[in-house]
Amino acid sequence: MRRSVIGSAKALSNRSCQNHWNVLLLRPLASSPSRFLSSTSVLDSPPPPPSSMLPVSLDNINPKVLKCEYAVRGEIVTLAQALQEELKSKPGSHPFDEILYCNIGNPQSLGQQPITFFREVLALCDHPSILDRSETQGLFSADAIERAWQILDQIPGRATGAYSHSQGIKGLRDTIAAGIEARDGFPADPNDIFLTDGASPAVHMMMQLLIRSEKDGILCPIPQYPLYSASIALHGGALVPYYLDEATGWGLEVSELKKQLADAKSKGITPRALVVINPGNPTGQVLAEDNQRGIVEFCKQEGLVLLADEVYQENVYVPEKKFDSFKKVARSMGYGEKDISLVSFQSVSKGYYGECGKRGGYMEVTGFGPEIREQIYKVASVNLCSNISGQILASLVMSPPKVGDESYESYSAEKDGILSSLARRAKTLEDAFNNLEGVTCNKAEGAMYLFPCICLPEKAIKAAEAAKTAPDNFYCRRLLNATGIVFVPGSGFGQLPGTWHFRCTILPQEDKIPAVVSRLTEFHKSFMDEFRD
Ligand SMILES: Cc1ncc(COP(=O)(O)O)c(C=O)c1O
Repeated sequence: MRRSVIGSAKALSNRSCQNHWNVLLLRPLASSPSRFLSSTSVLDSPPPPPSSMLPVSLDNINPKVLKCEYAVRGEIVTLAQALQEELKSKPGSHPFDEILYCNIGNPQSLGQQPITFFREVLALCDHPSILDRSETQGLFSADAIERAWQILDQIPGRATGAYSHSQGIKGLRDTIAAGIEARDGFPADPNDIFLTDGASPAVHMMMQLLIRSEKDGILCPIPQYPLYSASIALHGGALVPYYLDEATGWGLEVSELKKQLADAKSKGITPRALVVINPGNPTGQVLAEDNQRGIVEFCKQEGLVLLADEVYQENVYVPEKKFDSFKKVARSMGYGEKDISLVSFQSVSKGYYGECGKRGGYMEVTGFGPEIREQIYKVASVNLCSNISGQILASLVMSPPKVGDESYESYSAEKDGILSSLARRAKTLEDAFNNLEGVTCNKAEGAMYLFPCICLPEKAIKAAEAAKTAPDNFYCRRLLNATGIVFVPGSGFGQLPGTWHFRCTILPQEDKIPAVVSRLTEFHKSFMDEFRD
């Protein structure tokens, strides 16, 4: 059980913040993005024909699509993009000269550099004819050249432009399984690995497999990364929320799981799976091993599939915590294939690699019978295969250079530089949030985000109501218009009713952090001066 942190009393008092909004996770956005664009918006384009003339309208599309929301790229971001265009076409038209995107965990879009070794291998695999050229020895490290040969030898015809096996190239799955084994100290089977275009399609595949109707429930943390609420909505299931405890540093209590499970069952819901995001998004907590054991035991007893989102496994910033995979924890409790069904999601988008655009990832599926694996394979084959660069990267992140390899030192320096800078940025932003009136912020022990709680004055809540928007959205919109900083309102992730939050990534480059802090601090003071009760 995690014990934290920032004045739990302060957090608790924020919780009693009065407001007239009952936050519902899957509520449609109050207003369309276009409301917030100025009349001179560069997004102006010829108006589309009236929908009455078109065969597809909001009245006749799949209602599950209408229900689905994805806040990280929602209204605030659309407004930010419009402002960015305006800054380009009319410099000086806003009180800031750039948009600071703190809304999405997309490290390279904010200047993070890719790991050289990974890119060398990718480049060589994609253009193998240079492998035999003498200049290549001078331009690429010897171990990158060797790795590229190894990988190409695993690809039939050395053709990176060909479809692969639908689970992913076998040799790459062997490498990944070996990487998992080295990480966990327990065996991993390459046949359990499904390579995917990032973790997101893997999550969709599992939801597709598990959800039969709106009576099938998926236990999901609140706050949660909206991939989960969106995919549950798209596949027509029921999201069964369990609340993380902000006062204990976003602790995950098994008693809360039990309570919500019983509540769901009493409503006729059949719980099928439990989602755990560790390290957490948007909440940044890293689970302690004994807590993980409690979760494994709970899933085993209740017959729930444990969907372990472990995409931030390399992003741990505090010495007192470390990442342990759920598979390692389950196996160390003596539970094998027959005891627990467990899916672990990993991605090339996060960690120190941040290769979001390459779309690579995998799921390791254990504790399912061969007939179910066949069904998963069938679903994977409908998409033919995931992209080959993403597959190669997934193998590289699970098998980076080792001591003695030519690239090892530069690789380690790049990796440590990125992770230590992220840790410093997390701390600076956490301190800045805790210095704001009415704001409390737990530590980012891991992942890439802070999720501060803001006690908004009643007057601000009334103003939001008048503007027909949620109070946290109101705050984020005002912040963006005044400073160019893009946060995501807490409502997009779910929050305890009566509390307000926003999510801020720790990803702006380190030299931009002072600007984020000073602009935010100045804005917050003037916001509070305007609305203080
Ligand atoms: C917790 C979590 N899971 C999954 C994903 C999906 O990542 P990708 O599809 O890029 O692998 C993200 C992306 O931000 C995430 O934060």
